[in-house]
Amino acid sequence: MSTSVIILAAGKGTRMRSSLPKVLQPLAGRPLLGHVIETAKKLQADNIITIYGHGGNLVQNEFAHEHVQWVEQAEQLGTGHAVKVTLPVLPKDGQALILSGDVPCISQQTLQKLLDAAQHTGIGLVTLTLPDASGYGRIVRKNGKIQAIVEHKDASDEQRQIKEINTGIYCVSNAKLHEWLPNLSNSNAQGEYYLTDIVAMAIADGLEVASVEPERAFEVEGVNDRVQLAALEREFQTYQAKLLMQQGVHLIDPSRFDLRGQLTVGQDVRIDINVIIEGDCAFGDNVEIGAGCVIKNTTIAAGTKVQPYSVFDSAIVGENTQIGPFSRLRPGAKLADEVHIGNFVEVKNSSIGLGSKANHFTYLGDAEVGAGSNIGAGTITCNYDGANKFKTIIGDAAFIGSNSSLVAPVKIGNGATVGAGSTITRDVADNCLAVERSKQFVKEDYPRPQKIKK
Ligand code: UD1
Ligand code: CA
Repeated sequence: MSTSVIILAAGKGTRMRSSLPKVLQPLAGRPLLGHVIETAKKLQADNIITIYGHGGNLVQNEFAHEHVQWVEQAEQLGTGHAVKVTLPVLPKDGQALILSGDVPCISQQTLQKLLDAAQHTGIGLVTLTLPDASGYGRIVRKNGKIQAIVEHKDASDEQRQIKEINTGIYCVSNAKLHEWLPNLSNSNAQGEYYLTDIVAMAIADGLEVASVEPERAFEVEGVNDRVQLAALEREFQTYQAKLLMQQGVHLIDPSRFDLRGQLTVGQDVRIDINVIIEGDCAFGDNVEIGAGCVIKNTTIAAGTKVQPYSVFDSAIVGENTQIGPFSRLRPGAKLADEVHIGNFVEVKNSSIGLGSKANHFTYLGDAEVGAGSNIGAGTITCNYDGANKFKTIIGDAAFIGSNSSLVAPVKIGNGATVGAGSTITRDVADNCLAVERSKQFVKEDYPRPQKIKK
């Protein structure tokens, strides 16, 4: 059966008090709506229809790269009205999963369960029993069978005692949506067209309404304000941390770990506190990440140890390297095995060969460093003349003395040595020593200026 996904995302999200539309607020580094679209894609839905209203262009631009069909709901007249505006593009057969753009953590497994359950009945809901159900639509059952959903504002005192709530996630046959939605009325406490009224319509048509519970309660939590957003962020992070620990990662404290993307891991990876992982990262066996590191779109091979407060973006790091504390790897940094990068060393768009070391206060930009070379403290590759970028090439087993400036384009040969404090503007051939500094001036018995007592 063909499956369409309908995502409700037209609400303004007034309570966020933000200029950004609610569905663009980030959870784990990705917009709320992005999580829902990602899950819809995993279900291999035939089409994903998103209903937008507030901040429409912003929302569409954010997802311009996705195969999403956009339907505008210019006026927010209720959830039923929202789904109704999709009817002109909704296929006549198959089934639709109806999701909310502000309920980001709904899982593929729960939705699969819902799809399976609703296939036989034509309509199914995700429901949940909560200790405090106030505010939610309540599931009214008779002899265990669902009869209706009653919104909190329309519910009787007796109905308000019901703890089973409507999570706002449904699976409905498209044919029925085409039949029912034009008949919704807005004569209720809020004067809105309620999508929830389709449940009573299904019962009137003699259908049974299936229900499933989510695998995990936080999956159906919605975000209305920043307090809920922060709470859900923590729950989602706790869940991700648990998955990583189940894969064998040693998280020193899972409550102080943030993953904003995907992390692939080998065995016995150890991650200290307050580490943030972003984008797509992969860590090999026995990788250790010190406290406070921020690592984005980076691959780190087995046995590498990263000391605290290092920041990496789009780097590739070899095996058994030692990095940090306070090291920065910028896009295009490529470290071979056994490299050492120390404190206050920045590497950008540069490859560093096997076993080479830059241990202190150094900038390596647009450089190629061979194997076994030593880059002294305070070395700077001067790669930029204010308009253009140039390359510095350093061979194998070279030794760059401390506080040297290598003015690119320039090439330092294999086994070459640069004396400390040199400004190198011309190539240095293999095995040569280049020193560029004035001869040391000496004045014997120098009379240092004295303070004159008044
Ligand atoms: C809805 C359900 C309620 C359920 C609750 C779960 C109805 C009538 N009620 O209530 O049973 O317990 O969700 O959170 O459906 N939206 C639009 N266009 C509109 C109105 C809403 O796109 O005209 C979107 C919102 O942006 C949001 C979603 O639909 O993503 C839910 O709307 P909301 O107003 O939050 O519904 P609730 O009153 O919470
Ligand atoms: Ca809501």
